[in-house]
Amino acid sequence: MEEEVRLLLGGLGNTTPTGLAPAAVNAHSVASGSLSGRRVLLIIGGGIAAYKCLDLIRRLRERGAQVRPVLTKAAEEFVTPLAVGALAADKVFTELFSREDEHDVGHIRLSREADLIVVAPATADLMAKMANGLANDLASAVLMATDKRVLIAPAMNPKMWDHPATKRNRATLEKDGIHFAGPSSGEMAESGEGGTGRMAEPLEIVAAIELLLDRRPKPLTGKTIIMTSGPTHEPIDPVRYIANRSSGKQGHAIAAALAKLGATVRLVSGPVSIPDPEGVTVTHVESAREMRDAVEQFLPADAAVMVAAVADWRTANEAGEKIKKKPGEKAPALQMVENPDILAGIGHSKLRPRLVVGFAAETQDLLKNARKKLDKKGADWIVANDVSHATGVMGGDRNAVRIVSRSGVEEWPDMSKGEVAERLAARIAAALQAVEV
Ligand SMILES: Cc1cc2nc3c(=O)[nH]c(=O)nc-3n(C[C@H](O)[C@H](O)[C@H](O)COP(=O)(O)O)c2cc1C
Repeated sequence: MEEEVRLLLGGLGNTTPTGLAPAAVNAHSVASGSLSGRRVLLIIGGGIAAYKCLDLIRRLRERGAQVRPVLTKAAEEFVTPLAVGALAADKVFTELFSREDEHDVGHIRLSREADLIVVAPATADLMAKMANGLANDLASAVLMATDKRVLIAPAMNPKMWDHPATKRNRATLEKDGIHFAGPSSGEMAESGEGGTGRMAEPLEIVAAIELLLDRRPKPLTGKTIIMTSGPTHEPIDPVRYIANRSSGKQGHAIAAALAKLGATVRLVSGPVSIPDPEGVTVTHVESAREMRDAVEQFLPADAAVMVAAVADWRTANEAGEKIKKKPGEKAPALQMVENPDILAGIGHSKLRPRLVVGFAAETQDLLKNARKKLDKKGADWIVANDVSHATGVMGGDRNAVRIVSRSGVEEWPDMSKGEVAERLAARIAAALQAVEV
């Protein structure tokens, strides 16, 4: 339970990608029996994080969900069917070739008698099987036979997560419509190695499940929204780059808020250290040119919300080798060239989305600069925020924005980035529902 304590204490100051503090997510969910009557088929893979599934089962049942567990053979090495079954208060399924269960085609039934299938931990092996359509054990056969949505919580060593084969499998699974919760970054329990690959915490997985099983009407269902978030890194040589202080917190929170309202969000993110937002397909890029290419490939769309702090310039000639310091030589002079203007590109595109929203991070003449951007960039709204050092907006958790449009300026009070995100998402939903933007 040490993770839980950490998460709850963290909730006092931190926010999840949805902008809600984890503790708030928890309190709200338990109080409302948010998963009452929902059936979750939980496939537990053979990874060291399998022990966290015991807590996940408890959390889901607390919220009224019925949890039916399937264990892979490898998972049985990490948690016992007895412990899993006791917590789930249900039979634990482990065998594909079971006389008892297969007389009525058990694996097909299991795959259909659920509202959602959750794979946690999703091992590198299970992800490879899913991406390639293998069905040679109960877990993979269920995943192949299902007509329900699937959420996976990957967990593996960072080297496994970054392996080209896993990267290919991730891309395939995202294309196949599989939903992801995590992984997050940090130190790995078994090896002490750092990097990305830790399984999302049980409460984060619960939040992702709640999002997928939320029955309330969603005003952005059927709408596709392209988003950018974070900074860009412009290379000087193979080891150095030009960057800015954008954390991606505001953009990621908006992406999560739009997804919560039912939008299909295509988020293109520069390098950030926060997790991918729940329910959002993320393309990770480094430079402004990569970001532009990724954004363009997602056109057409209903709306574009460009939050990334894209570098205005990059070096004219990226050095192929690390630039060496030589005694007696002057410091190198960096020749700069302009980067593509991604917002203007989309605002003036033949495939222009119906609603184009840009962000203006300014340190002076906020409104004047934001108004100028409306026309120059072909945007409908510019969300202007003062990023002077004293405001603490860049990298911080709060923001005070003004929405500049052709009909005027709306000033919003200082609030958390999560609140800004939810309010902006609601405004976007209203605008897309209206006949004219
Ligand atoms: C101690 C130990 C820990 C492991 N942890 C992981 C892990 O966290 N993630 C992973 O992908 N594989 C991990 N493996 C390797 C898997 O157990 C192995 O690939 C297995 O075939 C996965 O089977 P499954 O995907 O059917 O559950 C671990 C193996 C051992 C021995």
